[in-house]
Amino acid sequence: MSKSFYITTPIYYVNDVPHIGHSYTTLACDVLARYKRARGYDVFFLTGTDEHGQKVEKAAIAQGETPLELADRVMKRFESLWEKLNITNTDFIRTTQERHKVGVQHLFKKLLDQGDIYLGAYEDWYCTPCETFWTENQLMNGCCPDCGRPTEKLKEESYFFRMSKFQEPLLKHIEENPNFIQPTSRRNEILSFIREGLRDLSISRTSFSWGIPVPGNEKHIVYVWFDALTNYITALTYPHDDNGNFSKFWPVDVHVIGKDILRFHTIYWPTFLMAAGIPLPKKVFAHGWWTVEGKKMSKSLRNVVEPNMLVDKYGVDPIRYFLLREVPFGLDGDFSHAALIHRINSDLANDLGNLVSRSSAMVNKYFKGTLPAPGENGPEDEDMIAAFEKGIAAIDNHLDAMAFNKALQVIWELINKANKYIDATQPWALAKQEDQKERLGTVLYNLLEAIRLTALLVAPFMPDTGKNILAILGTESDDVTLEGNDGWGGLKPGSSVEKAKPLFPRIEE
Ligand code: MSP
Repeated sequence: MSKSFYITTPIYYVNDVPHIGHSYTTLACDVLARYKRARGYDVFFLTGTDEHGQKVEKAAIAQGETPLELADRVMKRFESLWEKLNITNTDFIRTTQERHKVGVQHLFKKLLDQGDIYLGAYEDWYCTPCETFWTENQLMNGCCPDCGRPTEKLKEESYFFRMSKFQEPLLKHIEENPNFIQPTSRRNEILSFIREGLRDLSISRTSFSWGIPVPGNEKHIVYVWFDALTNYITALTYPHDDNGNFSKFWPVDVHVIGKDILRFHTIYWPTFLMAAGIPLPKKVFAHGWWTVEGKKMSKSLRNVVEPNMLVDKYGVDPIRYFLLREVPFGLDGDFSHAALIHRINSDLANDLGNLVSRSSAMVNKYFKGTLPAPGENGPEDEDMIAAFEKGIAAIDNHLDAMAFNKALQVIWELINKANKYIDATQPWALAKQEDQKERLGTVLYNLLEAIRLTALLVAPFMPDTGKNILAILGTESDDVTLEGNDGWGGLKPGSSVEKAKPLFPRIEE
């Protein structure tokens, strides 16, 4: 049986257009999805759009459209951006799809029938942008404690989910599963929040209509977070499991989210699942937020970084690389053009680009572009081979821990190792000595082998670059599978090596 891996992005609201914040979550998931595929896993990688709720309804009215027209228009922008960023999602779920509605209503009805959802009344302070109710005590100067915007007092008949009942089981689960919420600082934050007590959760609305009707009482629509979170199982055809994906991929390996939506994913969602008797996610990982040149990204500051524009200007691989290299996943980071250009020129053009162009040029100069067969390895060769072996294992561990920047650091240590290997072995000096022809062949073979492994390792981050390098090396396919290919000696002597054009043009500042 093949190993399976299920990874999700949040589903994005359609009242906003995609920016680098959204791209960041999706890119991180794509890198992991590609890596796991390269490691032989059968991967289900889900993304999509969150199309219901008052925010979307209001945005549509403001633009003179129906909510569905707005959703149709904006979801296409997400879809085309993902294509542009070379995202390999398996599925794209929209909460307005029938398959989703069926699953949400089923889950709601199940919890209602068993008494974990009940009808009551509600009076509290509501923050529309966050779609969240707050008690008087929780408000900060009358405003939402999360986003600081004004709240309004709402009284509604409402269905409630007995979240309080699951406080202890949830605490126990989080305590017993240290990896469930990551990073650890976020886990601690959630633990103390739960210890303060969980209230039952209002789970339906009557004040607007853009949502999924509550089964049996169509005056109510399902609360947008109950609706949205359920996407993670409706995409697997819960509850009917028509295509076997639910039994194959659930529980999810990791929900990747931003830190702002942690509570929804680590309190609401697990308690819904517990109530339904569905196993909990294996991991929820909350990454940090991007600011731009030191400032919060916002429409009013007109500093929203538009990923399409970045890709047009710098190319897709450099952007993918930069976002995951610059900041440890889990911490906040700052986007600046200067930092991006520095990374492109130094890490990509100098370190990686030069390694490939120097090496391929030498095979062309000294062996007419035909990869020589290696002879006996010496200490310098063994040293580099050992470094790659060790590095590859370390990268595997870092990616399991979602430490993308550390994985890239290790890849760059290997690239530098290969660059130093050139300096130490001095192929140009060997080329001048007729009796060193075999040694020169060994050195260039090993060098290109280091580059082949580097190509496989960078491919999840920079898919085009990985394939371009493999093409230069004259490997017969652009297969980037690591499993079974990550041992030393994969290149076939005699294959023809192209003289590489620069992989990454330098950017003038
Ligand atoms: N629709 C909800 C998620 C429902 S999941 C069942 C939602 N959507 S969102 O479009 O507002 O945000 C989606 C993701 O984008 C969140 O993970 C959020 O953290 C991320 N980002 C939005 N702005 C961001 C930055 N400036 N930086 C990094 N990520 C940010 O929330």
